[in-house]
Amino acid sequence: MNNAIKEHWDEIYESLDADELTWYEEIPEPSIRLLSECHINKDETVLDVGAGASTFIDYLIDQGFSNIIAADISEIALGRLKERLGKEKASLVKWIVDDITEPVHIQNLRDIALWHDRAVLHFLLQENQRRTYLSMIKKSVKKGGYVIIAAFSLKGAKKCTGLEVRNYDHNMLGEFLGKEFVLLDYFDYIYHTPAGMPRPYVYTLFRRNP
Ligand SMILES: C[S@@+](CC[C@H](N)C(=O)[O-])C[C@H]1O[C@@H](n2cnc3c(N)ncnc32)[C@H](O)[C@@H]1O
Repeated sequence: MNNAIKEHWDEIYESLDADELTWYEEIPEPSIRLLSECHINKDETVLDVGAGASTFIDYLIDQGFSNIIAADISEIALGRLKERLGKEKASLVKWIVDDITEPVHIQNLRDIALWHDRAVLHFLLQENQRRTYLSMIKKSVKKGGYVIIAAFSLKGAKKCTGLEVRNYDHNMLGEFLGKEFVLLDYFDYIYHTPAGMPRPYVYTLFRRNP
């Protein structure tokens, strides 16, 4: 686990309420839109990598998904999410504190029907970090499974929470995932932070060849 990165995110989640975060979504509409295009059953496994305190988890629970995994480097972030959900709903989720660039637990996951990443991959600047991230997708996402990745677009911010990001478009994400993953849909999306600042994202949906 990269302790400097863990501390960075722990401090942010400690000092701000979930709805003050510059990526907070009351309703994660673009993710919901892409989820609706995935042909998966509610008992199949959905992994939200770098879930933070995301409301996508609330949505999945409310829709009746019964195999949800929330993974994040920050235990504080997942604690915030658990708190919001309350005991009953939180017990429906499998919680994993892990670093996607130095994974200990994520590498044991298999049969993931949907890998969901909003605003995590773009923090991985080093090639070895990106390689590890990709190897986790290849190990864990089943054949015919789906991958949603949302990242700051080429028109987007160059930094978030003081950390540099790598900007993407749908072609770059397709090249990153490789030929085994087919691009099913993508769109540009302007997210507005709680303070009203525009943050251009690209949202992509891929399917792994069956
Ligand atoms: C910008 S936030 C997005 C959170 C969530 N996906 C959302 O849309 O609300 C980035 C998240 O990635 C997590 N993260 C950053 N680096 C990570 C890593 N190396 N491994 C796992 N999680 C990481 C952070 O703790 C944080 O919760």
